[in-house]
Amino acid sequence: MRSLSGAKTLDVMRVRQDFPVLARETRKGVPLVYLDSAATAQKPRTVIDAMTNFYETQNANIHRGIHRLAEEATEAHEAARKRVADFIGAASSREIIFTRNTTESINLVVFSWGRSNLHSGDCILLTEMEHHSNSVPWMLLAEELGLRLEFVPITGEGLLDLEAYARLLELEPRMVGFTHMSNVLGTINPVKKMTEMAHEAGALVLIDGAQSVPHFAVDISDVGADFMAFSAHKMCGPTGIGVLYGREALLESMPPFLGGGDMIKRVSLREFKANDPPYKFEAGTPAIAEAIGFGAAIDYLDELGMDAVHAHEQQLIGYALERLAEVPGLQQYGPDAEKRGGVVAFTFNGIHPHDLAQILDDVGVAVRAGHHCAMPLHESLSIPATTRASFYIYNTIEEIDALIGGLHKAKGVFG
Ligand code: ALA
Repeated sequence: MRSLSGAKTLDVMRVRQDFPVLARETRKGVPLVYLDSAATAQKPRTVIDAMTNFYETQNANIHRGIHRLAEEATEAHEAARKRVADFIGAASSREIIFTRNTTESINLVVFSWGRSNLHSGDCILLTEMEHHSNSVPWMLLAEELGLRLEFVPITGEGLLDLEAYARLLELEPRMVGFTHMSNVLGTINPVKKMTEMAHEAGALVLIDGAQSVPHFAVDISDVGADFMAFSAHKMCGPTGIGVLYGREALLESMPPFLGGGDMIKRVSLREFKANDPPYKFEAGTPAIAEAIGFGAAIDYLDELGMDAVHAHEQQLIGYALERLAEVPGLQQYGPDAEKRGGVVAFTFNGIHPHDLAQILDDVGVAVRAGHHCAMPLHESLSIPATTRASFYIYNTIEEIDALIGGLHKAKGVFG
């Protein structure tokens, strides 16, 4: 849809029809209200069809066969890679490595770049709002090599403390890693500025884009980061495939991560010569149908327009924060709507988040409860767990009303 100004806007009722699962009830007479897209997004029919079509008409392994099906499968897989490269503004498809997910992408950087470039005493700078994928791999390498890990604190408003960041950069970290958008607070970090500051301090930059690339336009050539990780399944694509974007010169210089077929040019009994990027980092048969589904997901989002996606989520989070503020006993964490994406985590009246999620499920509202793979962040907020609602292209204002209704019901049950 287009507005009077010509900008694309999102026709949410039309979008909803593209997602088969949204038609289901969670129990008889209770429609599904899916508010857990930060964990994984639902899939439109075009993505499901693209994968089914691949299995029904083209299924073959890639880069190996010279028969017709193998050539078609290889072409479709590489077309998906090009689709991803264009979507994030990468200079070339060679900068796009397919992995299993964001977590594996970050592990690839840590264990390929990290092991071959870092030494005892080197500093890695992360933030207190990272989810475990961007801290635990670094902890593993820190233990192995004797690295120093430092963390940018968060302000009371739920933003990164940029003054503390500037001070921590004086430690001359070798790598700075930060999330583009917090999966708990929803905070959207100023990644371009943070990247510039890190580069000035001589560090490389790794961005965790798991919660940003699905929700608003991210142009990696503008941001200027060296690495960026994200997953297909949070952006309407299938599970089992993710991306590591890496600057080509860096990828050239890094050793392989996993060994096996496809990541080599030549192998003798005791030696091998590694393939060129991105294949150097893609050992074994990849997730071929998933890459094709991922390409279809990007087509779908592109058709909607990422600015329209973002504007829709801004409207939802603005409304949600207003409505949640009216609920007595509810405390939400994170900044104002204009500084965040469509995620809101909260505690309510001392009710355990798991109990609250259970009551919400009784009225069809699906949310996530717990630490959301971000235990250190919850520790810094001095709370063990939160309940989290997260929004995407198919969510409506009425669904936020259903969430609020569920909260009132929970209050009635727990007193
Ligand atoms: N990091 C994912 C989430 O926030 C799994 O739910």
